[in-house]
Amino acid sequence: MAGRFLSFEGIDGSGKSTQARRLAAALRARGHAVTLTREPGGSPGAEEIRRLVLEGDPDRWSPETEILLFTAARRDHMEKTIRPALARGDVVITDRFADSTRIYQGITRGDLAGTVDRLHDLMIGTEPDLTILVDIDPALGLSRARARAGTELRFEDMGLDTQTRMRAGFLALASRHPRFRLIDGARSEDAVADDILSTVLPHLG
Ligand code: ADP
Ligand code: TYD
Repeated sequence: MAGRFLSFEGIDGSGKSTQARRLAAALRARGHAVTLTREPGGSPGAEEIRRLVLEGDPDRWSPETEILLFTAARRDHMEKTIRPALARGDVVITDRFADSTRIYQGITRGDLAGTVDRLHDLMIGTEPDLTILVDIDPALGLSRARARAGTELRFEDMGLDTQTRMRAGFLALASRHPRFRLIDGARSEDAVADDILSTVLPHLG
């Protein structure tokens, strides 16, 4: 593939979406062709699945069904958006990718980590070249996420204990995979954006 594939990960309210947007703008200003996308979603079919998983009754899906839905959305996102953009030579920036399933479904919704990994190998089989983990104290992340109005509340109602376990899960994952870069998200937007840009630029050649 000609392009570069970057993902943003972290708990809700860590600042991923804000920083993914800012990185896309900064790279475009430097002349890079950028595809900015997100999960769940990022293609018309996957955006439809997004509504199924993020809205409605919290008990709407079993953990197993949820893993299948997130993976189905990701497969469509890969086929319709990510692979074509990488083939064109774009820098692809995705706000969440498979690490979110590893953490949200694999760790917090039962002992399903092995299932998540097997399904990923079978249906996705791709990892980002670089993953920016925006790390933040869960209390701060939660207060930021709650200040943001919206209808996608199934996951954001998880509470502080769950967010704390997920933060630890992301940090453990990052320590095992060299593609991760850890970024302290508890700073001003500008400071975080500068840090991320200087982390990413050396990887773009
Ligand atoms: P995420 O995508 O990780 O859930 P967002 O980028 O949507 O996080 O940010 C959550 C909320 O916090 C938004 O209202 C956003 O404007 C605000 N926010 C983002 N980054 C910062 C920051 N560095 N300092 C203060 N507020 C921030
Ligand atoms: P997102 O819109 O990124 O929420 P936020 O901006 O609050 O971080 O993602 C929506 C929710 O979906 C989020 O709580 C995490 C969850 N999610 C999973 O549980 N599994 C997944 O594979 C993905 C991609 C997201």
